[in-house]
Amino acid sequence: MERHIPVSKPIMGEEELSRVIEVLKSGWLVHGPVVEEFEEEFASYIGVNHAYAVFNGTAALDLALKALGIGPGDEVIVPDFTFIATANVVLMQGAKPIFADVEDETLTINPDDVADKISGRTRAIIAVHLYGHPADMKALMEIAEDHHIYVVEDAAQAHGAEINGRRVGGIGHVAAFSFYATKNMTTGEGGMITTNDPGIAYRVKMWRDHGQDSRYHHVMLGGNYRMTALQAAIGVAQLRKLDSFNEARRRNAEKLSEGLRSIGGLRLPVEKPGYKHVWHQYVVRVEEGFPVGRDELARLLSERGVGTAVHYPLPIHMQPLYRSLGYPPNMCPVASEAARRVLSLPVHPALSPNDVKYIVDTMKDIASGRI
Ligand SMILES: Cc1ncc(COP(=O)(O)O)c(C=O)c1O
Repeated sequence: MERHIPVSKPIMGEEELSRVIEVLKSGWLVHGPVVEEFEEEFASYIGVNHAYAVFNGTAALDLALKALGIGPGDEVIVPDFTFIATANVVLMQGAKPIFADVEDETLTINPDDVADKISGRTRAIIAVHLYGHPADMKALMEIAEDHHIYVVEDAAQAHGAEINGRRVGGIGHVAAFSFYATKNMTTGEGGMITTNDPGIAYRVKMWRDHGQDSRYHHVMLGGNYRMTALQAAIGVAQLRKLDSFNEARRRNAEKLSEGLRSIGGLRLPVEKPGYKHVWHQYVVRVEEGFPVGRDELARLLSERGVGTAVHYPLPIHMQPLYRSLGYPPNMCPVASEAARRVLSLPVHPALSPNDVKYIVDTMKDIASGRI
């Protein structure tokens, strides 16, 4: 059989199957006890007082901003290098995303650039824990405190990641997680909002369900952002496996780094001291010294059955949507350079030791011109 190593792969087992069958047999398919069980276990895992499940990660970010009261005339500082949802949810509130560049080392938002971009209209900063490596929350929380603004954690890629033993999702004022199929744990589509702030928690809960404080009694604006019991059933089972999934990712990342270290022109990802990386993606940067360019490397790997992806091919401000809104080109040089160089290699828990060895050997063959 021909070898094919996908760049990501959800892992489902008997636990997920039996929990979903239980829900189907119970006849209670919508928000209810299973969603509440998932929320309680997730809150306890992250170490926060409140967790609210919603239908996807974009909805989680949207509700987080709504709960902070972000609206027209407000500015929110976001990293220029992230998945588009991080910036789009700001536009969705009628507010203005202000792009900050990213740190060269981790490609997470650069606090110095954030500090430079604060204005009288700034209401919040969104810190993305990109690829599973936490952003510099200490510096960001200090800036936020100085300016009386909020920090929203976009933890869509970082379930279980830590800074000095504290899990992300419980460090900022409010956080959003995604359980999309490629994430470290999945419910197919799904999301969660976490917070310790009772006021934010109340507004999230109300917004999620048509602003009703009791059945058919609506005290504020809201929508339907609810998660189904089927999603939550998968989530409960996946959450119990999250630590073992993350350990497998960490082992795979270590083996990849060990194998790839000697290759010239290839910049490897790092884990900063005090930070726990959960390797949602293992992202190398293809530098000038490498014999082929990033896109050619991806093509050669694909021909040999190794799936890769580019997270992300453009900094957000260069996306046609943002250019059409008048953002000038080349605002954030580190993000622009990263977009030209990054390539995500498979690191997911379904990789066998042989798969990892094959990826390393294939990379070495390409680097030495044997392919
Ligand atoms: C950084 C980041 N933010 C937000 C999202 C949005 O999550 P979802 O796809 O579940 O809507 C994702 C995932 O796709 C993401 O990677």
